[in-house]
Formats: sequence, C-alpha cells, structure tokens
Amino acid sequence: MSIQIPRGTQDILPEQSKQWQYIEQFSRNMCGAYQYHEIRTPIFEHTELFSRGVGDTTDIVQKEMYTFEDRGGRSLTLRPEGTAAVVRAFVEKKLYGLPDQPTKLYYTGPMFRYERQQKGRYRQFVQFGVEALGSQDPAIDAEVISLAMNTFKGLGLQELVLKINSLGDTESRLAHRQALINHFQPHIHEFCEDCKGRLEKNPLRILDCKVDHKHPLMQTAPSILDYLNEESKRYFEKVLGYLDVLGIEYEVDSTLVRGLDYYNHTAFEIMSKARGFGSITTLCGGGRYNGLVEDLGGPETPGIGYAFSIERILLALEAEKQTLPVMQKMDAYIIALGEEATEKAVKILQTMRLAGISCDKDYQQKKMKAQFKQADRLQATFVIVIGEEELQKEKAVVKKLATGEQTEVAFADLLSYMKQAKEEKE
Ligand code: HAM
Repeated sequence: MSIQIPRGTQDILPEQSKQWQYIEQFSRNMCGAYQYHEIRTPIFEHTELFSRGVGDTTDIVQKEMYTFEDRGGRSLTLRPEGTAAVVRAFVEKKLYGLPDQPTKLYYTGPMFRYERQQKGRYRQFVQFGVEALGSQDPAIDAEVISLAMNTFKGLGLQELVLKINSLGDTESRLAHRQALINHFQPHIHEFCEDCKGRLEKNPLRILDCKVDHKHPLMQTAPSILDYLNEESKRYFEKVLGYLDVLGIEYEVDSTLVRGLDYYNHTAFEIMSKARGFGSITTLCGGGRYNGLVEDLGGPETPGIGYAFSIERILLALEAEKQTLPVMQKMDAYIIALGEEATEKAVKILQTMRLAGISCDKDYQQKKMKAQFKQADRLQATFVIVIGEEELQKEKAVVKKLATGEQTEVAFADLLSYMKQAKEEKE
C-alpha cells in the first residue's frame, strides 16, 4: 500500500503555492510599511515554554500539543503558536534593551496542534503573526488591529467583522473570576470533566468550552465588561476611539474570551461573514498580553499581537470568490529544431535566465506544434524559434503570442530585445 499524507496536513501544489507566496509577500510588505520586522524562531521549543506561556488549563496545552522526548531525554514540543516563542526570544536576546521601543515583530511559519480535522482546522497550519512589545499605548492596539484589517482588505476580502472585547487588568479579572465561580459552582456537576477542573483553576476557560458551549448558564454568565475597573474601562474606550479615528468598524462582544491564557485588556478576532465559509469563521485572533514577558523571566513589558493562518485566508477568498493577482511569469519559450539549434538554445536560455528573464524549452522531444501549444498553455509572452535557417542567418524568429506578431532578431540583440520587452510589459 502506498503511504499517504498524515491526517490534518496538506500538500501545497505549485498552482496553490503561488497563492501562498502572494499572501505571504503581501503580508510582509504590509508589515514593512508599518515598520514590523521579521523574527524567526525554532519550530520546536522546550515544552515548559508553552505550559507556562500559553497556559496549563488551555485546550492547546492539555490536548493538542505534539510533545516528544529527544534522545537527550528533554521534553520538546512542536510549536502550537508563535507568541510564546517570540516572547522567549525577546527575553533571551534582551531585545527590550534596544534603544528603539516598542519592538515590533512579525513571523510566519508552520504551527502544530492535534485538533480534530475539519474545514479550516488542520494539524499543521501556517500562521502569519505580529507582536508589538514594550508599549502600553492604546494607539498601538489600534495600530495592530488596523494592520490585520488592512492586510485582509488589501488581499481583497470585504466581508469581515471585527469583534473586540476587553478582559481588563488583573484587578478586573479577579473580580470577574469570582463572579464566574459564583455563577457556575452550583451547577458545575452539569458540565464536562474539563470544566469541573477549570472552575477553580481558570473559570474564564469554561466560556470557551467546545463541549458545553450550549449550556444555558453560558448565556447568562457574568460579562467581563461589567467588572472592568475605571482604568481598564478608560483604556478600552481609548482603543475604540482610535479605531473610530481610523474608520475601522467593530462589534464589542463581551463573550469573546480567546483560547489562550495570556490575554488581558484588548482581545479581538476578525471573522469572515462570507456565505459558504463553513462553521469556523475566525480568520485572525489576538490581543494584549501584559505580564507574559515577566512570566517568562523578563522585565515588566506590555505586549499585543495577533496571528492568522494562510489556510483560513484562502478559504475566505474562495468563499468571497476573490482571486489573487498571481501572474504567470514566463517571458519566453524557446523552440529549437535540430541538435545545433538546441545547443544555441541552451546557451541563450542561460544568458537570459541570468539576466532575470524567465524562460524555458521543451525537454521531451515534442513536435513543433506541440511545443507551440505548450508555450500557449504556459502563457509565455514570446516564442523564440531557432531552426537551421535561423542558425545560418544568426537570427531567431521572435513571435509575440498574444498578437501573432513576428520579427527576426539577431542572436546578438536577443537579450536586449527581451529585456526591453519585459520592461515595457512591467
Ligand atoms: P489563536 O486564536 O490560537 O491565537 O490562533 C490564531 C489564528 O490561527 C486563528 O484565528 C486561525 O486563523 C489560525 N488557526 C488556529 N488554529 C488553526 C488550525 N488548527 N488550522 C488552521 N488555522 C488555525 C494564537 O495563536 C495567538 N498566538 C495569536 C496572538 C498573537 N495573540 C497575540 N499575539
């Protein structure tokens, strides 16, 4: 039996990888415009980073990590998300000591979660994430959110909803925590085993339970917004004020709690409301995580960020019937007839390729007609024909496929001819 791809993973074939590259490049460019710089961290980390960083009571840590022991007996984990590792690197490499703060970073790469596979939910997926560390200015919350929104809009997505909530500071969270315990405790026997454990450890997690989400007590649970102290309330209002300034629409959703433990103050998700998107509509999730840097051994440093997966962006684009402007970039296809002409073609190909002109030839001894057909399929701008006659004249026949227009160009002038044509096209 042939070996098949592991469940929850995908092969990205060349047709699709063009779209991936486009999304990645577009997102990188947006980050560049906002002055966020790339950081690359390892794909595996010490398991403790995630149990401490993401939180012991989260589904991610309890059920979804790919954890293994290496040959030296260390417990390592394939990263389920990017924030904990970025914060680890920020602390370990003392980025907080650099003169220009906040430290504005972005990253992209595969993440791993042992989740039930369904549309939009994979076991290996590629996140593109952003983190701003070292600022507690509500304007940077709005900047981060606007970077996400503008990236999505720039990719052509229109049917977006930004949901935002505040989880408040420690004091507000403690007050809310007690209210949640009081609310759920009398009925906790009606909830799943996980929720029973969450009641004392982290009752906020109950609101995020995938098993009990329809329990009536979920609807009537105390809202964090009623427990925000003055400072947290003011902070949230300022964030919303900046979003107004930027013309970014939002819905305040007091039930938004996020699935990771490190959040406080601003929490947000961007969802797709496109029909046919499927049941999982969240494209992007993020929020503020003041305290995480200290938890991971660094100095007191606030932080905020988000991540989205390329997989979900592609699903959203498909649901909105948006296509990306991925260009087929073949400048020329060379047809050589005979051995001597082939030698010439091989040489011309190299010269043109080294000058940045994308070109190719047939390697399957196809007939001339089939080669023209292939050039058509590959959407080459030009076909360059070299036969015996052309060799004698030291000239090639250059045909523009779109118009059928044909000219003879001396071999010596071919490179400059192609370069000029390419410049005109661009
Ligand atoms: P998260 O909400 O766990 O947050 O994931 C962020 C995004 O990653 C989701 O909105 C979704 O687009 C994508 N995603 C998550 N799981 C899967 C999956 N199984 N398959 C496909 N896509 C998935 C975080 O990871 C935080 N680190 C975000 C953050 C950064 N918060 C602050 N900074």
